[in-house]
Amino acid sequence: MPRRRSTPLIRMSRIDDEPLYRQLRNGLIGAIEQGTFGPGDLLPSSRTLALETGVSRNTANLALQELLTEGFIQSVDRVGYVVSLDVGPFVAAQRKPPGTPINWEARFRDTTDPFPHMRKPSDWSSYPYPFVVGQPDPSLFPTRAWNRASRAALDPENRSNSLNDLIDQDDSLLTALLCERILPARGMSATPDQVLISLGSQQGLFLVSHALVGQESRVGVEDPGYPDARHIFSRRRGALRALPVDDQGVVVDGTVDDLDVVFTTPSHHYPTNVTLSVGRRQQLLLSAADKDFVVIEDDYDAEFRYQGQPTPALKALDDTGRVIYLGSFSKFLAPGLRLGYIVADAPLIDHLRDLRRYMLRHPAGLLQRTVALMIESGDYAAGVRKTRVAMKDKWERVATSLAQHLPHWDIPIQTGGLSIWVPGPPGFDATAMAGRALARGIVIEPGDVCFLDKPRPVNYFKLGFSGIDTDAIEPGIRALAGLIAESAG
Ligand SMILES: Cc1ncc(COP(=O)(O)O)c(C=O)c1O
Repeated sequence: MPRRRSTPLIRMSRIDDEPLYRQLRNGLIGAIEQGTFGPGDLLPSSRTLALETGVSRNTANLALQELLTEGFIQSVDRVGYVVSLDVGPFVAAQRKPPGTPINWEARFRDTTDPFPHMRKPSDWSSYPYPFVVGQPDPSLFPTRAWNRASRAALDPENRSNSLNDLIDQDDSLLTALLCERILPARGMSATPDQVLISLGSQQGLFLVSHALVGQESRVGVEDPGYPDARHIFSRRRGALRALPVDDQGVVVDGTVDDLDVVFTTPSHHYPTNVTLSVGRRQQLLLSAADKDFVVIEDDYDAEFRYQGQPTPALKALDDTGRVIYLGSFSKFLAPGLRLGYIVADAPLIDHLRDLRRYMLRHPAGLLQRTVALMIESGDYAAGVRKTRVAMKDKWERVATSLAQHLPHWDIPIQTGGLSIWVPGPPGFDATAMAGRALARGIVIEPGDVCFLDKPRPVNYFKLGFSGIDTDAIEPGIRALAGLIAESAG
């Protein structure tokens, strides 16, 4: 018959974060460690434990169950719980000092980079005046058309494309429609083997950079320019060279001659929105062919041109295959869908397909087929038209409100894009202003992150208008101008 011992003093605390049953369990383990209960000894019943420690019987039972699961005690029929005969290893494991925490930093084999990140509050949509860049206006999303297409994507004739593991392939309907309808609108012609679907143009850039940029690569980036491109290239250890930008877009002179890669946003330069002039386009393509470098064209928001026709893509003029084109569905549908595409020579597309396969196989088939069906039905084109009209309205309001409320500032308004690049006067600190503006419900984005080299100018900021309600634009700019006047005075 097992020896019965009385309950040791187990202190329970009601203010401790640890639940009561865990406190009781720990107290009993302490008693076993100290030998109050030895192997084979009978533990007090749950009733006694509850009475003596002031917890409920349920709690006492929970503590005993836990000890049983962990192997400290065993249940003996018609007797109760006794301490396991081989309790030693369990007690030893309990006494083991906590292991050294793992040093993850020392294990990372990839590279980070020294550049600052773009800053915008994650809860931007809860502010009354969110002039954030790159965020959508949910009221413009073609919800009904989307629902129709995504339902149809599960019809018997679409189901296998939507649901099968396509391994390294894309939805053939989407790539065919891109070639038939979307790319020709940008002046381009391509065959499906020259197209790869990506998770947004950002992933397209990541894949291309992974394939073409290494430690020995010299990469030209626009300055100011798109910060995330810089992050991606420098994480591949590419040496970055700043290419200046003027009112005709990126400057193409002898400094590009020894580069391996040039990254550019020709339709609307990020962040100034300047369109690359025809002369510069020709110069860039001639230099690329002559000096044998490749050009990555990021055509992230080309359709948003508010006067005249959109300029064709740079890729439309490319007859040597040196332009790698990145397109996106983020601006016309929604960035949260994470869908874009790469257009390039077939051997490069094959290589990128292989790379993508071992990363994620392929972007979701259901998403690809849904977008394909929207393009096929004409709903996509209708949605783009509607969004463009709405964005033109917003753009006009931003332009007139800036002229009205900041009349002494010299702000170049380009005829395209989804944001305005605002140069503050000398001495203006956009980062400090962004902080003050946020406190008044106005979100603006400091532009210093767009510059490559230190000291980065601090007087610029971005005023995005895609995500803000049209009616909030004028009051938002009025409030911002009021704050600027207050801070100057
Ligand atoms: C210049 C530029 N390139 C690429 C992207 C990324 O677009 P996506 O959502 O297609 O990855 C953005 C996003 O705002 C951008 O501004």
